[in-house]
Amino acid sequence: MKFFEYRDNLLHAEDVALPIIAESVGTPCYIYSQAALEQNWRSFDEGLKERDATIFYSVKANSNLAVLALMARLGSGFDIVSGGELQRVIRAGGRPEKTIFSGVGKSEEEIRLALELGIFSLNIESDAELTRIHEIASELGVTAPISIRVNPDVDAETHPHISTGLREAKFGIPFGDARKIYQTAAKLDHINILGIAVHIGSQITSLAPIMNALERIIDLSEELASDGIKIQHLDLGGGLGVKYQDEQPPDIAQYCEAIGEVLDRRNCRLSISVEPGRSITAQAGIMLSKVEYIKKAEIKNFAIVDGAMNDLLRPVLYDAWMEIIPVALGEGRKEEIYDIVGPVCETGDYLGLNRALAVRSGDLIAVCGAGAYGAVMSSNYNSRPKPAEVMVSGDMFEQIRVRESIEHILDIEDIPKRLMPIA
Ligand code: LLP
Repeated sequence: MKFFEYRDNLLHAEDVALPIIAESVGTPCYIYSQAALEQNWRSFDEGLKERDATIFYSVKANSNLAVLALMARLGSGFDIVSGGELQRVIRAGGRPEKTIFSGVGKSEEEIRLALELGIFSLNIESDAELTRIHEIASELGVTAPISIRVNPDVDAETHPHISTGLREAKFGIPFGDARKIYQTAAKLDHINILGIAVHIGSQITSLAPIMNALERIIDLSEELASDGIKIQHLDLGGGLGVKYQDEQPPDIAQYCEAIGEVLDRRNCRLSISVEPGRSITAQAGIMLSKVEYIKKAEIKNFAIVDGAMNDLLRPVLYDAWMEIIPVALGEGRKEEIYDIVGPVCETGDYLGLNRALAVRSGDLIAVCGAGAYGAVMSSNYNSRPKPAEVMVSGDMFEQIRVRESIEHILDIEDIPKRLMPIA
């Protein structure tokens, strides 16, 4: 089933025509298909069912409570990078003991919270972090389950901003230093070495770099075994790409199969985890926006829409091409080439450049593939309230995040009352 498709020339999310949602919650808004989210998660589950494997959905891709609650109901674990994400997981019914805490800069408070709640694994990214975690664990009288995130120096062949596995990246422990830090960790009373973790980047469109990274951590697990350090778990991270334009990423089943092949060939019996984010949510969501004005400038046409870079940052931040389609087809409109831009005062405020579209003022457009790293990266730049979010299932929909109001934004700011008055 296609989850976003035209019926009678109107774009639908599952069985709901998008103008109905626009009328009810306004624009811009994000719309997710529950069936798509579920299908993608189940593809990982199905693909890895023969293995001792756990899916830890990567919360950062789309952390709306409704998405997390759905993942929790499907039986997913979670990959988080902040105390805030941990609280979201719990609020959504997820379990800390099925949650992995990644990230280079965990604060003392975050580590304490994770240990108190019984996190599955803290994925450590530096020896300073190992020391800090050990101190907090001994203070709390607990043993911290840890994996060490190693940097395998594998090129993920993706955009530099989302490539994390190269030697120059801030992520992970350099591969050559890994054995040493495991030896240090093995001597610490309040540290329990669980596994080895890796994550080489995001929007990876070929299997080779990911499988390379897997091979490297299997190598490391064998070297550690010869050092007397027993590894139980391998965490492969996320990173599987999706098709935004003409990429040809492997599908989820092929990805899972490739993991199985490597594990079998290497005769590796360790439990494994994957941390998919984008591949579960990207194609399960769109951003709906309305054309405010058509502006014909000297050498360009602009379709000025009510969604902007503060609502969807990916196009300008990563030069990301995201498909933009009209919600209504037909009616004899003529296609023209437009830059689809928002109201924010920056030249970088665009959703797409040089797009052939047949639109006029008042029309709705959909930015496709917006379910990952869309709403989560929105901001209040230009004092624009963050957009609403909606979940669709069959012929029903519910708002899962209200559109922010200007009051929401202004209420947490103050004009000082006690500072010296300006002369
Ligand atoms: N695990 C770790 C440790 C990660 O750092 C990430 C993503 C994931 C899993 C999930 O990766 P995924 O399956 O979604 O590729 N904002 C960027 C993407 C940043 C990804 C950061 N890390 C974008 O919009 O393209």
